[in-house]
Amino acid sequence: MYQINEFEQRKLLDEALADKVAAILTAAVKTKGSASIAVSGGSTPKGFFHALSKKKLAWQAITITLADERWVEIDSSDSNTKLVYENLIQNEAVNAKFFHLKQGETLSDDTLDDLNLAVNQQLLPLDVLILGMGEDGHTASLFPCSDEIETCLSLNSPALLKVVPQTAPHQRISFSFAALAQSKNTFLHISGASKKQVLAKAIAGQECKEMPIRAFLQAPDVNTQVYWAE
Ligand code: 6PG
Repeated sequence: MYQINEFEQRKLLDEALADKVAAILTAAVKTKGSASIAVSGGSTPKGFFHALSKKKLAWQAITITLADERWVEIDSSDSNTKLVYENLIQNEAVNAKFFHLKQGETLSDDTLDDLNLAVNQQLLPLDVLILGMGEDGHTASLFPCSDEIETCLSLNSPALLKVVPQTAPHQRISFSFAALAQSKNTFLHISGASKKQVLAKAIAGQECKEMPIRAFLQAPDVNTQVYWAE
């Protein structure tokens, strides 16, 4: 299921989402002593990252990771890790912990096994998940065009998977739907008229393999909070 929250300006959305996420992380740290959040890459989240980085939270108790990462060097302009370090792990948030998805040189089965063990022990279920959405209805790196899409959407998948999209650059490491769907608070952050149309198309149809974001919108036990601004 889902709820749509609309904002007149991206800046207002960024502030509102940062307030909401800050409150959830604060409550989680108070209850459990720690909290986890997975964010997405792409061009949409920069303003939100900046707003969240200014919140005075117990950042040393908060682990940030990514919903997905491109398998590129960390200093590449395509690295989501670089984006997060430059825009979120700043200001008040400089002491946040970061769980790297891109570890080592090769995205091998052994690398995935080690990372799966670590995220299951240390991170899951996530307290907060911030998803983005592509024009093709992909989210995280659950790409409709990839050979791996059935595994990505299967409820029996491991938490982290290798994905090779046919229509986007770089091999990826992505959390699976099964792992992301356990998140206690899920947000879909999108902006602009064309993403609104993509969302409407996703809502109007059923087949998750065609538009993987549908898996989150349809799951009865996932309450996806859509945050959209013009
Ligand atoms: C990635 C992402 C991806 C992204 C969407 C939206 O690394 O590519 O995590 O899922 O969120 O493609 O990207 P934009 O914000 O650039 O439209």
